[in-house]
Amino acid sequence: MPKILILNGPNLNLLGNREPETYGRETLSAIETKSGQHGESIGLTIDFRQSNSEGELVDWIQSAIGTVDGIIINPAAYTHTSVAILDALKQVSCPIIELHLSNIFSREPFRHHSYVSPVANGVICGFGAHGYLLALDA
Ligand code: DQA
Repeated sequence: MPKILILNGPNLNLLGNREPETYGRETLSAIETKSGQHGESIGLTIDFRQSNSEGELVDWIQSAIGTVDGIIINPAAYTHTSVAILDALKQVSCPIIELHLSNIFSREPFRHHSYVSPVANGVICGFGAHGYLLALDA
């Protein structure tokens, strides 16, 4: 089965309690469970991870080179700051989907720029936790 790496950046471990009006009430572990179930139903193996550390995310992207069939990444705040994540993603040849729970374009201007979008095949944002399933379908 094709393997999809789902990466989640800083503070997403707090989902459920973190600004629920913006990010919804589902926990990251509930999203992981749903992603695994949905992936299985459409023939995908899911490797779901979260880190608050930029370096760890870069390490995981590097280890995905040649070993996974797709990457879904919610880089969280690193979306708007991380040249290191951009550079790591440039080394990956599989499809990359950038994902955000919230619609970053309807929020503060500093969230409108993404370092990741130039290397993403597609961007999904604003659909809350359902976005993870949409990304798997995509
Ligand atoms: C986010 C949007 C980012 O701007 C923010 O820093 C996050 C989460 C989202 O999923 O909506 O932490 O990536």
